[in-house]
Amino acid sequence: MAKAAATVKDIADIKPGAIGPTGRPWPTLPVPTPPDPKAPKRAQIIAMTNQKGGVGKTTTTINLGGALVEAGRKVLLVDLDPQASLSVGMGINVHTLQHSVYDLLLHGIGVSFDEAVVPSKVPGLDVLPANIDLSVAEMQLVSEMARERCLTKVLAPIRERYDYILIDCLPSLGLLTINALTAADGVIIPLECEYFALRGMAMLTHTIDRVRESLNPALTLIGILPTMYDNRTVHSREVLDRVLGEFDDKVFHTVIRRTVKFPETTVAGEPITTYAPSSSGASAYRSLAREVLARHP
Ligand SMILES: Nc1ncnc2c1ncn2[C@@H]1O[C@H](COP(=O)(O)OP(=O)(O)OP(=O)(O)O)[C@@H](O)[C@H]1O
Ligand SMILES: [Mg+2]
Repeated sequence: MAKAAATVKDIADIKPGAIGPTGRPWPTLPVPTPPDPKAPKRAQIIAMTNQKGGVGKTTTTINLGGALVEAGRKVLLVDLDPQASLSVGMGINVHTLQHSVYDLLLHGIGVSFDEAVVPSKVPGLDVLPANIDLSVAEMQLVSEMARERCLTKVLAPIRERYDYILIDCLPSLGLLTINALTAADGVIIPLECEYFALRGMAMLTHTIDRVRESLNPALTLIGILPTMYDNRTVHSREVLDRVLGEFDDKVFHTVIRRTVKFPETTVAGEPITTYAPSSSGASAYRSLAREVLARHP
């Protein structure tokens, strides 16, 4: 791991060609230009997946969403976790929700997308919220026809309204995550920089391969995002080196550092890009948005 990277506080200060936080030369990432407002939309659907809990899936969904909106994209965040952390983190009171993603997923309940979607504090950023109702969905989906494609059917008619749809998965590889992987064009895997980070990755990549083979041939792994990185510890750097050794150029150049700003942002109910726009955390997610726009336009 090159020393130069360890001293950089803000990813926005790294010049193309200089050694980045992953020890590789920092790429030239084009400054995003907003899409033509008259051009028809067809959202790219991205699932944030890792069956390991607490690795930064929800934080990444919210803040990548915020950064993509800043880049002029219209974005829908889908909460596919009965814990509803994404909905809560976007300032939604999940106890008073009339409708949620659950109603749309399970047929015959007669709720439309427009009745369930909630606009956020950030213009251009909408949320399809969840609540505890979703905890029975895994069980109920089992008896549905084409049970892996229920979310695909929910999202198909609204793709023309958004540029990106980001799905926040729960920490499991059950039927809800399979639905997300079947509906998605791409997957981002947030990976916490700690010793057991790679444990479970074989099972996750195997699941992605199985979905690609049998349900969704176009599914691509967009990238692996190292999160909660602490460049002051040898430990974090060693884990990052191992992740790079295993996944090479699938690892994003952007690395998300550990900072208390993220838990604070959750309480604020909005993305870090609007809550603390000049923070290094906001810069990091802007940088991730540029990488995603380049890898998966
Ligand atoms: N880069 C970071 N630095 C410090 N804290 C972070 C960072 N990213 C996330 N957190 C905090 O860590 C906790 C777990 O993050 P998050 O909820 O995003 O993970 P998750 O993978 O969605 O978890 P779960 O598997 O339970 O859904 C949260 O309290 C969050 O605020
Ligand atoms: Mg989560």
